[in-house]
Amino acid sequence: MKPSVPAAPAFGDPVEVARPSPDTLALMARRRSGSAPQLVAPAPTPDQLEALLRLAARAPDHGKLFPWRFLILKGEAKAALVHGLERLAADQPNPDKALAALAKLRNPPLTVAVISRVIECNIPEWEQVLSSGAVCMNLLIAADAMGYGANWITDWYAYDEHALRLLGLEPGERVAGFVHLGSLPEPPLERVRPELNKLTAEWTPPPSEL
Ligand SMILES: Cc1cc2nc3c(=O)[nH]c(=O)nc-3n(C[C@H](O)[C@H](O)[C@H](O)COP(=O)(O)O)c2cc1C
Repeated sequence: MKPSVPAAPAFGDPVEVARPSPDTLALMARRRSGSAPQLVAPAPTPDQLEALLRLAARAPDHGKLFPWRFLILKGEAKAALVHGLERLAADQPNPDKALAALAKLRNPPLTVAVISRVIECNIPEWEQVLSSGAVCMNLLIAADAMGYGANWITDWYAYDEHALRLLGLEPGERVAGFVHLGSLPEPPLERVRPELNKLTAEWTPPPSEL
């Protein structure tokens, strides 16, 4: 039995924040992607997917632009997309590798393509693109919390112009990620993690400022 997702607060309601959540900390301490080619059914149901997208869309977004959208890839339509990409794989610099990479899209029973759509305005493009990344990350966390495996992948067909046309992207739109969803037959093994002391420093003023 997968957990249900509480309703969103109504617009303008005070929102309870900073409530300690040991479950969330435990999830984030052990969260790992599931390998896309190994994701199998069951996938999130339509109601669960709707809830997952609602959670994903609660990503920070400078200017409230919602500079992203979702494309759901499933069933026969997804199979047709994979078929089209198989043809395009032949034109890639390494056709065999390109074809093999398609297992990551073909095998998972459900995929959400998070499409970055930068809106021309005073909010820097960089910040709009970062918001799309935050959507992808929210989706990974929410899927895990709901009891599903998830994997954020791009691959060559996120960049190939013919593939993007097949996906129906508008000019200026980009694939932030294909977030593959499903169930994992086996738990993934922990991967290497960064040594944070090598990546973290406390800022001190430059000598000229002292
Ligand atoms: C933007 C982005 C694109 C990625 N594209 C690919 C990809 O094309 N192929 C791949 O094997 N992994 C790709 N990955 C890495 C996978 O998501 C990988 O499974 C993940 O980093 C594992 O880390 P985790 O277990 O901490 O989630 C990508 C990751 C990010 C953030």
